[in-house]
Amino acid sequence: MSALQKMMGWVDDRFPLTATYKAHLSEYYAPKNFNFWYFFGSLALLVLVMQIVTGIFLTMNYKPDSMLAFASVEYIMRDVDWGWLIRYMHSTGASMFFVVVYLHMFRGLMYGSYRKPRELIWIFGVLIYLALMAEAFLGYLLPWGQMSYWGAQVIVNLFSAVPFVGEDLSLWIRGDYVISDATLNRFFAFHVIALPLVLIALVAVHLVALHEVGSNNPDGIEIKKKKDPVTHIPLDGIPFHPYYTVKDIVGVIVFLMVFSAIVFFGPTMGGYFLESNNFIPADPLKTPPHIAPLWYFTPFYAILRAVPPMFGSQFPGVVAMGLSIVLLFFLPWLDRGKVKSIRYRGPIYKFALALFIVAFVGLGYLGLLPPSPVATILAQTFSVIYFLFFLLMPWYTSIDKTKPEPERVTG
Ligand code: HEM
Repeated sequence: MSALQKMMGWVDDRFPLTATYKAHLSEYYAPKNFNFWYFFGSLALLVLVMQIVTGIFLTMNYKPDSMLAFASVEYIMRDVDWGWLIRYMHSTGASMFFVVVYLHMFRGLMYGSYRKPRELIWIFGVLIYLALMAEAFLGYLLPWGQMSYWGAQVIVNLFSAVPFVGEDLSLWIRGDYVISDATLNRFFAFHVIALPLVLIALVAVHLVALHEVGSNNPDGIEIKKKKDPVTHIPLDGIPFHPYYTVKDIVGVIVFLMVFSAIVFFGPTMGGYFLESNNFIPADPLKTPPHIAPLWYFTPFYAILRAVPPMFGSQFPGVVAMGLSIVLLFFLPWLDRGKVKSIRYRGPIYKFALALFIVAFVGLGYLGLLPPSPVATILAQTFSVIYFLFFLLMPWYTSIDKTKPEPERVTG
């Protein structure tokens, strides 16, 4: 026995190192037919790690003080060694996190990955998505630019639309009558420690739930139903390591090429990743003419604006916006289709999903624009489509003419 084997034996007697390695990597059998849509889970992990590492380095020079915050970010950009790179990696990482997560969720929709037995993976996913939105919103106040300030003002004010307790609620969130130094301090605390901890914990349980039931695949059939009678290994499963570790590295390389191109050649992405108004220090006395959130929030912002106020209160819009996300939790039970994957679904589901994507992207675009009568009507139409996709799902998925699923995974 070599010294290394002896050392591993010593550790294994005290900690399940080899057993964990086998259970989650070398003897974790994943379906052999993963396509590129399966890159986005590991890419989301990569971006999470990148955000944490760059965030730690930003925190070394950032000052969570309303008198100093804006200048400290400029200091990072101009004077701190490699500070510009760290800051642009973090700001680009925020947007790319959402790009990756939206594609990851879309994959789930296409292949029915949220269906039994993966409901909890999906629910943890939706919680991750909520935590991610909170994390991005809180982080956006920190540079203390005009958009940071007024964006936070608009969103926190939404809470005052809640009947009876609204005013007290928004006051409690801000810690002041307007967004102020107190707000900046608490947002900083939540952004750098509370929510990252929540995110890490949620990602951990997301993956534990995934490894308990095993991955879905582009055919949407269960590989565990067909096992080798002797080894009990799924016939269509291959060990995650080395096959998918190597495949994921290909995804990482392509992703890093795109990511670097943005960081080095267009970190503002024409105002989509960093808004020009946010390079102006926050001025509580001067409201910018047009306040829009960053692109990843705009579908929900458009739903909020599409609902007309009732008795002068924005509450119905706030409820619609909240509901548009809460509905995601119920997806596993709304879908009554006989098959999971889009490959074997009938024309109705394919049409519904396509329409849903058009509505979601359309809402995202409209949310970026200043309000206008035409934009409002369009946003209302898209909002109705968005809600109907979920609410009518039990009906249209059950009447859809599906194709028979194959016995074993294809291609
Ligand atoms: C920080 C964010 C996230 C991370 C790091 C993450 C990580 C992962 C990883 C590594 C996998 C396995 C690889 C893969 O299937 O691509 C996975 C699978 C999955 N994730 Fe996520 N995820 C995140 C967010 C989400 C969100 C927001 C949702 C949905 C709302 C979601 C739903 C799912 C589902 C349903 C699966 C199983 C897919 C299948 O087996 O076909 N995840 N996730």
